[in-house]
Amino acid sequence: MKGVVLAGGLGTRLRPLTSVTNKHLLPVYDQPMIYYPIQTLVNAGIRDIMVVTGGNSAGDFLRLLGNGKAFGLKHLNYTYQEGEGGIAEALSLVEHFAADGPVCVVLGDNIIEGNISAAVAEYRAQGSGAKIMLKKVPDPQRFGVPKLDGNRVLCIEEKPAKPQSDYAVIGVYMYDEQVYDIIRSLKPSGRGELEITDVNNAYITRNEMTWEELEGWWTDAGTFESLLRASNLVAETGANKMYFEREEVVANAPRL
Ligand code: G1P
Repeated sequence: MKGVVLAGGLGTRLRPLTSVTNKHLLPVYDQPMIYYPIQTLVNAGIRDIMVVTGGNSAGDFLRLLGNGKAFGLKHLNYTYQEGEGGIAEALSLVEHFAADGPVCVVLGDNIIEGNISAAVAEYRAQGSGAKIMLKKVPDPQRFGVPKLDGNRVLCIEEKPAKPQSDYAVIGVYMYDEQVYDIIRSLKPSGRGELEITDVNNAYITRNEMTWEELEGWWTDAGTFESLLRASNLVAETGANKMYFEREEVVANAPRL
C-alpha cells in the first residue's frame, strides 16, 4: 500500500503566515507541520510515500525532507500541484505513482495523537472500495460531516450549516484504483475545487465505503485557532511524532 501526503494549496486562511511560505512548513510545536502526516503513514507501516506540494516554497520541502531519513525512509517521492484545484485534484496527480494498488491519503495539516495501523489493516482485509475515518467534534460544520445509519454512512456533506451528526470526516482516506476514474468524473464545487467529499460520496453511492472511528485526539491546523490548538495538543500530550524519536518503533512497524 502506498501513501500520499497532500501539502499543496495557498493556505489563505493563515495569511500573513503563509504569504511567503507553505502552510505545511509552519511549526506545530517543535516540528514542521508536514512531519506529522508523514509519521502517521510510516507508523502504519507505509514506506512508499509521495508528497504533493504546490503554491509557495515547493523547493523547501526537498530541503527539509530530502529522502525521508528523519522518518527511517530510504526515499521520498514528490510532485507539484499548479493552482488551487482542490484536494481531489491534488490526489489525481499521484496516479502515475500509485494506480497499481490501494493508497492511503493524509492531508498535510491533519495531526493525530495515535495510530491508524488497525484501520489500514482492516482496509486491506476489505480488499477494495474505500475507507474513511471519523471523529466526534464540537464544531462539525467546519468539516465534511457524515449522515450515519448505524454502521452505514449514507452520505457526506461538506461544511453543512446544519450538520447531520457530531462527526467530522478526518483527513485520512483509503482508496482503491477506482479513485482516479472517480476524480475524472467530478465537477468543481461552488468554491471552484474538486472536492474529496465528492470522491467519498461516489464510493458511498457504489456501496463501497466503510468507516472507522479514530482513537485519540485529532485536529487540523489550517486556521489560526486550530494551528494553536495543534501546537498545544502536541506540547501537552505528545503526538505520533514521539515514534520517530524511537528508531526501534520504525524498525518494528509492520511492512505492507
Ligand atoms: C478538508 C475536507 C473536509 C475534511 C477536512 C479535514 O477541508 O474538505 O471534508 O473534513 O479537510 O481536515 P478543508 O481543509 O479543505 O477545509
